[in-house]
Amino acid sequence: MLANLNEVWKLADEKKIAIGAFNIVNFENILAVLDTAEKLNMPVILAFAQTHEENNVMNLDTIGPVMVLMAQRAKVPVVVHLDHGVNLDYIKKSLKMGFTSVMFDGSALTYEENIRQTKEAVALARKYGVSIEAEIGKMAGITLNNEGVTENRASDRRNYTDPAEAKDFVEKTGVDCLACSFGTVHGEYFSEPKLDFELVKELKKAAGVPIVMHGGSGVSHADYKKVIANGVRKINYFTYMDKAGGEGVNAASPVKYFHDAAKAGQDAMQKDIESAMRCFVNMD
Ligand code: 13P
Repeated sequence: MLANLNEVWKLADEKKIAIGAFNIVNFENILAVLDTAEKLNMPVILAFAQTHEENNVMNLDTIGPVMVLMAQRAKVPVVVHLDHGVNLDYIKKSLKMGFTSVMFDGSALTYEENIRQTKEAVALARKYGVSIEAEIGKMAGITLNNEGVTENRASDRRNYTDPAEAKDFVEKTGVDCLACSFGTVHGEYFSEPKLDFELVKELKKAAGVPIVMHGGSGVSHADYKKVIANGVRKINYFTYMDKAGGEGVNAASPVKYFHDAAKAGQDAMQKDIESAMRCFVNMD
């Protein structure tokens, strides 16, 4: 059944767990995530990231309606969420499709401009009665340096979210949850992530809303437990699920028929998702 974030926080807070937000780029992702959520009888978030459209991986127009339909049919609460929306028109498009939650990512803007545009996104989300996430601090990603080597920029503490700003930002914008930077990165980790657990606790106290951890795949289960104990209630997860799918296809190859490759990828992703989700919801 369809739900929004505000409807699943109650359970997450009661049980001190995090809800997994898995990025969807194909049908096998949807099947693997929903099968796992139903098996564990737990809510889950199907997310579509605007960047996957920009990188020609998948289009919102194609996969969005499928996500909504599959969420409606699910036996557990499913939030259909737009991840890293960077403009209001794109956010509006997802809302018209029936998404129950959106993220406006103004982290590349100045602080003042991020507040201004986030307020507009909040007003839009409220019009549709859905939940909204925003971001402050910079979530580092993986970049190519001029030697073509991948570089992990997460260790730069200057990008971490400031608790005083988190408080001010939530008060001024009225967002339902806040994506914060405290040591994770999007994409693959090339050195062990070193998360600032104390900062997570401070951010939760200052912001007064659930904290969202982006760059959530590739983190140890011990670290998941610590950030959840300190106030993280939503964990965004993609890269290592996608990698598990690729490894599953490699292990099954050569395959003659495409459906065998798709099934091998789906099964491998599902194993990875189940392991992460069991940890998020304290069932490991
Ligand atoms: P990963 O790249 O660590 O899986 O993070 C995904 C994410 O944060 C999407 O918003």
